[in-house]
Amino acid sequence: MALKPDSYVVLNDGNKMPVIGFGTGANTAKYTKELVVECTKVAIDVGYRHIDCAFIYGNEVQIGQAIRSKIADGTVKREDIFYTGKLWNNNHTPERVRLGLEKSLKDLQLDYMDLFLIHTPVEFKPGDDLYPTDENGKLVFHNTDIRETWKAMEACRDAGLVRSIGVSNFNRRQLELILNMPGLKYKPVCNQVECHIFLNQSKLLEFCKSHDIVLVGYSVLGTSRIEGWIDQNSPKLLEDPVLNTVAKKLNRSPAQVALRYLLQRGCVVLAKSISLRGSRKTSKFLTLT
Ligand SMILES: NC(=O)c1ccc[n+]([C@@H]2O[C@H](COP(=O)([O-])OP(=O)(O)OC[C@H]3O[C@@H](n4cnc5c(N)ncnc54)[C@H](OP(=O)(O)O)[C@@H]3O)[C@@H](O)[C@H]2O)c1
Repeated sequence: MALKPDSYVVLNDGNKMPVIGFGTGANTAKYTKELVVECTKVAIDVGYRHIDCAFIYGNEVQIGQAIRSKIADGTVKREDIFYTGKLWNNNHTPERVRLGLEKSLKDLQLDYMDLFLIHTPVEFKPGDDLYPTDENGKLVFHNTDIRETWKAMEACRDAGLVRSIGVSNFNRRQLELILNMPGLKYKPVCNQVECHIFLNQSKLLEFCKSHDIVLVGYSVLGTSRIEGWIDQNSPKLLEDPVLNTVAKKLNRSPAQVALRYLLQRGCVVLAKSISLRGSRKTSKFLTLT
């Protein structure tokens, strides 16, 4: 089955999410602000419609610029783009949630986001410091009830600032806190988590499916393997022998099979890339046939 750029899943609130998203988070010097704009424009040119970003990536100004320039040149309309942003850990207190979203929208110069996620269930000390630390250099955490944060997310949706709301990096118990909260107005539409052939999240996926929550997988291609984040001696996902055997048999690239593995399990996938390679040089879209 061939996937088209606009293949999508219908979320539990009725909105549609394209099944392949372009990841824009990469904490490397190589990923300069200029490159962010260029890569996002190319991604839209080759067919991506789902753009995954976050306040903490520090590039919403550039991503917004790229999206608006592709709208201005007629490649897409705003409604063709599915933009995901994320609430950072310093903004979990209910009064800071909308402020965080509005700051992102201002940076993006967009009127609304398609999807806004609580980036992680972990909260840092509220304030403008993104990584607040104590005198010993240790991160300072805070303890807002995540259900209060969720109510503030619901209010952002009601205010029309965002079409859908969801979570990221939540385990089952954290999801259950929200799903079972009294007066729940909107369920999370998705849970964006690390998911790939080395970490297939089968239990969490089953749970999400049973609640009509889409599991959005990140690091599907094995991450950019940034030093300090990833053990450089860990096996490289795209070099996995089984993946390569399957890819060879199917006459596909290992990256295509790694993505297809999750798509066939009903997940939405994110992929980050700053290089044009293979079919993407010529094709209108990643060839996922
Ligand atoms: N919610 C969260 O907490 C969270 C956490 C991590 C990531 N994410 C999201 O998920 C996105 C993707 O995850 P990720 O950044 O960890 O990385 P990823 O998509 O698993 O991997 C990116 C790496 O794969 C390479 N690559 C891309 N296409 C390829 C292909 N066709 N063949 C071979 N290699 C290929 C890229 O190289 P080039 O760049 O040279 O093309 C890059 O080194 C992020 O950008 C972000 O939007 C979210």
